[in-house]
Amino acid sequence: MTVMTPAFAATATSNGLLDRYRAMLDGHQANAAQWLETQLSRADQLPDDLPDTLAQLGQWSVRHSADVARDYAAYLKQRQQGAPRRYFSNRSQAIWFLQQVAPTKAVDGAWLQGTLKHWADPRYHDLIRTYLEELGNGDPRCNHVLIYQRLLSRLGCQEPVLIDERYLQGSLQLALGQHSDRFLPEVIGYNLGYEQPPLHLLITTYELAELGIDGYYFQLHITIDNAASGHAQKSIQALQQLCPRGEEAEFYARVRRGYRLNDLGVDTPSLIASFNLDEALFTALEQKSLFGQFMHADRCRLQKRTINQWLSEPGAMPDFVAAMEQQEWIRRGEDPANSRWWKLIEGPTAPMFGVFTPYEKQLWHDWIAADWQAPVRRVLPGAWEGELALEVPRLQSAGDPDVGDLVERMLGNRHATPDGLLATRNYLLATGLAQEEPR
Ligand SMILES: [Fe+2]
Ligand SMILES: [Fe+2]
Repeated sequence: MTVMTPAFAATATSNGLLDRYRAMLDGHQANAAQWLETQLSRADQLPDDLPDTLAQLGQWSVRHSADVARDYAAYLKQRQQGAPRRYFSNRSQAIWFLQQVAPTKAVDGAWLQGTLKHWADPRYHDLIRTYLEELGNGDPRCNHVLIYQRLLSRLGCQEPVLIDERYLQGSLQLALGQHSDRFLPEVIGYNLGYEQPPLHLLITTYELAELGIDGYYFQLHITIDNAASGHAQKSIQALQQLCPRGEEAEFYARVRRGYRLNDLGVDTPSLIASFNLDEALFTALEQKSLFGQFMHADRCRLQKRTINQWLSEPGAMPDFVAAMEQQEWIRRGEDPANSRWWKLIEGPTAPMFGVFTPYEKQLWHDWIAADWQAPVRRVLPGAWEGELALEVPRLQSAGDPDVGDLVERMLGNRHATPDGLLATRNYLLATGLAQEEPR
């Protein structure tokens, strides 16, 4: 078995998406409009489930959410009857998935960033409000990008190495956001697709809780994107408001193209199912071996070879781990606490404390445990978030801030910085878009 390191995999399949994604985050144009045209022609090849006319969209959305509710009820029933988890067989798989979608989550809402400057035109308000809610209205507790960053940070995986394709949806979102005037119907269509809560959101939330991971980010999207009053409903209202009279058919055809962009790349259930624990562990070890191959004393031997020899041979990780198992450093299918190797790497007094990241230790844990399942306490969505002491930034500048300058500070994922949060608060005031609290 050959294991490609992710860095190698990224160059082997590179379409330059990572570079594009980074450039756009930095605010560069990166030929985004032209690139977007190419992606739209790719999306033209895909089928979609939209109704024939714009007038049927309301019904379509209601039916969509009824289907999701029905399928979710069936899922819950299966689980109550003893069916295993549908998505995540262990914590490693869940954490792996959370990292794979991180580039998309890091720019949540970015396809709408170009609408901010139209604050004086009420037809844009549904889209702008959706964007502002993605930003948590400048409240770090509610900012979607920050919520996701906190989740990854708590799980110990902030800088995942990913294949190029993982940057596709994030790049699309940034490109749509940069050129939303030119691609307004497509932006509206993309938004329409992105904001309809799918079945996998519900299942993910449920299974993360079971695995002891706070699925607040996913739970939040079930509630905030709902079809009655949430982002799903706003997405249809925005379409009706911004569609020019007499040009409905042409406009709707372009909306459909934008809608289909959501389906470029791998879908969520297939992505989750593509996880392979062996591969994930060996890939992580292969990367680590580059640093570890000179670090071990030569008296450390496994099957007559020094550890340094094992680690310096490319592709040797599967055999290395097999040797550890033969030597009974690892007892597979049992509580990892029974394995000598686990005691070397886990715990504050372990000799190899700190060598592996929390995610890498989880890979080891689940690989060793195999079918043995550790009892895990359910973590209800919001449990970790509730412990935080975050404050809403206070407005410093009275006077009249320049809205153009505020918008600039809210683009990409800049809104998730302290300065961006402050700019968001100021934008709400300056544009009159702040909403009154009930009292
Ligand atoms: Fe969001
Ligand atoms: Fe949303």
